[in-house]
Amino acid sequence: MSTRVEKVFVVDDEESMRVSIAQWLSLSDYEVESFDQADAVLPHLSVDFDGVLVTDIRMPGMDGIELMEKALAIDYQIPVVFITAHGDIPMAVSAMRSGAYDFIEKPFEPEILLETIRRAGEKRRLILENRALKSKLDQSTGLEKKLLGNSEPIQFLHQEIQDLGPTDASVFLVGETGSGKEVVARCLHEISGRGKENFVAINCGAIPETLFESELFGHEPGAFTGAQGRRIGKFEKANGGTLFLDEVNAMPPNLQVKVLRVLQEREIERLGSNKAIPIDIRIISATNGDPRQACADGSFRQDLYYRLNVAEIKIPPLRQRGSDIILLFEYYCLQAAERYERDTPPLDNDNIRLMMTHNWPGNVRELKNAAERYILSSLPPQQRVRHILQHSSLEKQSEFFSLADQAANFERCVIEYSLKRHRGNVSAVLEELELPRRTLNQKMKNHGISRKNFLQENENNDL
Ligand SMILES: Nc1ncnc2c1ncn2[C@@H]1O[C@H](COP(=O)(O)OP(=O)(O)OP(=O)(O)O)[C@@H](O)[C@H]1O
Ligand SMILES: [Mg+2]
Repeated sequence: MSTRVEKVFVVDDEESMRVSIAQWLSLSDYEVESFDQADAVLPHLSVDFDGVLVTDIRMPGMDGIELMEKALAIDYQIPVVFITAHGDIPMAVSAMRSGAYDFIEKPFEPEILLETIRRAGEKRRLILENRALKSKLDQSTGLEKKLLGNSEPIQFLHQEIQDLGPTDASVFLVGETGSGKEVVARCLHEISGRGKENFVAINCGAIPETLFESELFGHEPGAFTGAQGRRIGKFEKANGGTLFLDEVNAMPPNLQVKVLRVLQEREIERLGSNKAIPIDIRIISATNGDPRQACADGSFRQDLYYRLNVAEIKIPPLRQRGSDIILLFEYYCLQAAERYERDTPPLDNDNIRLMMTHNWPGNVRELKNAAERYILSSLPPQQRVRHILQHSSLEKQSEFFSLADQAANFERCVIEYSLKRHRGNVSAVLEELELPRRTLNQKMKNHGISRKNFLQENENNDL
């Protein structure tokens, strides 16, 4: 979301018009190319065209309407703006129905033209960014698509999922609320041999104790008062697949014993039946608390904990994920902009700084909501992030987020953002940040930043 569309092609047979439009636009730093006939501009258009096409309607040879049709055949989302004489307005209106972006009636104020081009350019930029993101996601593997992020902690998490996913090991996920525990559980399931079978989630914190047992084990008709009909429990539903015990710390103690027995014996009985049903499931558990503390204070059985925690995966909180904050924010902004048909105003440095030093107690879920509100907000873009973060219901003090941590996080972000802007060109970063090379190298090493993550494909920038 960092650069605007800067190219404008102007097509008009009238020289004075071409010259004045080019002058106005150049003053606003647009890169303008003028053409005196429509067919001359066509070879310059492509699906990658990062600009706006401005054209007169009546011209000798190919007219503006035919030009629009040909341009839209190259890419149906190229923004075409017509400049029309008064008598041609009905034609321009009908062209808009066929896909033109807008029209401006002659004579017009330069500000009107500039504003229309700015909006058209913004829309085009969004379209191109969305396409680039989609094609990047299409090229990435399943895991990279589902669990987004380039930061070192996320790369490490990908590796752990790759290592543990295909096994039947019981995995225990520990992570703060909204950090992605369910996403990780589903990824583990999908890359396991059980991926085609059921993934069944049960939220142990949300089920009343009296219903828990029948929820897990199922029951036969008449097993207890009110048990009408037969019910298949979660264990059976997950048979062959994966059972996800979410908020496992909240499981009532008497249930903990029963679950432990199932895990040992690998069979269940429905309530009201004494027929044993063999169970072949993989268990993934999750908590946002401290499981060891729960064992120490006796609220969670240690023997069950050891069975569930053959392997533990810690999911990093968002505030420890550096530039992923901006990457995910931009991703969710693009999604929201597309959904609500809104612009995505670029993030300025102040907004970036605020996001990088925010504590994100609600992690990715909070960030996703923030991005949506950023897109829907009517405040000036520079004020939006501050406003959203101030009003975030989850916002807490920064007591867990020391000054040193905030400063380090901010430093990492500035370096990563500069590398991103300069596509991994370290010389440009040195110049921008006014740093000696050795200092930059040292800081990149300290923060675990790798230049190769910022290189554009096929680009070979000098070191
Ligand atoms: N790395 C990620 N990439 C993309 N989306 C993510 C990522 N991590 C989390 N999300 C998204 O953030 C939201 C919260 O994730 P999820 O529900 O997995 O969190 P959780 O840890 O289970 O939270 P809770 O403790 O509140 O249950 C979801 O919308 C999820 O799709
Ligand atoms: Mg969850």
